[in-house]
Amino acid sequence: MFLLAHPAGHSISPAMHNAAFNALGIDALYTARDVAPEDLTQVIKALRAPDVWGANVTVPHKRAVLAFMDDLSDAAKRIGAVNTIVNQNGRLYGDNTDAPGYLRALADANITLKNADAVLLGAGGAARAIVYALLTAGVKRLSIHNRTPEKAQALATEFSTLGNVQALPDEELTPRVHGADLLINSTSLGMSGLHEHLSPLPAGLLPYNGFVSDIVYVPAETKLLKDATLQGLTTQNGLPMLIYQGAESFTRWTGQNAPIPIMFSAARTALESR
Ligand code: ATR
Repeated sequence: MFLLAHPAGHSISPAMHNAAFNALGIDALYTARDVAPEDLTQVIKALRAPDVWGANVTVPHKRAVLAFMDDLSDAAKRIGAVNTIVNQNGRLYGDNTDAPGYLRALADANITLKNADAVLLGAGGAARAIVYALLTAGVKRLSIHNRTPEKAQALATEFSTLGNVQALPDEELTPRVHGADLLINSTSLGMSGLHEHLSPLPAGLLPYNGFVSDIVYVPAETKLLKDATLQGLTTQNGLPMLIYQGAESFTRWTGQNAPIPIMFSAARTALESR
């Protein structure tokens, strides 16, 4: 099993998948491969070999690999990105487990999505799987706010056949966030590095009584999640989504349920030793 990435150095996926293989006595190895865009065709060809079960795909290849797949899941088609490739006897099936992974993460936190009023911050690549997930789960309304409003509008228009999704203009941000059942950050603000001290929202602008979810997992608690916790709100960082998308991929390759606690513990250990 491979992770196709560029660069690939910091991924915790090998640690979590190899721990899962070990725990279930599965004789398989998962390794991260740094694949330059010009080498993608060649590397994908190699995935058709009988001893390869498949691969994960991440930045910057998630969209580019679509064209090389023999078949695509509905999720991969709608999201327009593949994060999981399954080698089915030499045919490559492209799937996207970010959406079911995100839904399992929210289910873990006992969040009810049916009829929820959700606000999503950000309209980039990561937002796409979240929009697909929330609309297929039946939220009542999904409002997308983005620094560049045209991108929020384009995303809302693209997914409008799946449910009630709209771009959120600046002037409606405050009341919509206050009333939200679920607020999600899919921007890179708060992520370790350049944007670590930043929150996507002004301090104090949070749901009065909603759940706050951040796709960032390094640091474990972003500025947004700290603010939310201080206000007494329940939060979740991006680690459960990462684990559950991996667990969903694991099942597609092996046909077995993934050992979730083992994957969490391997991922946490890998994160601590970075
Ligand atoms: P990813 O694949 O991780 O989603 P991306 O496609 O580059 O990465 O999207 C990054 C998201 O974070 C975008 O919504 C981006 O807003 P723009 O569309 O306006 O670029 C948002 N983002 C990044 N830096 C930001 C900043 N400093 N302030 C506000 N939003 C930011």
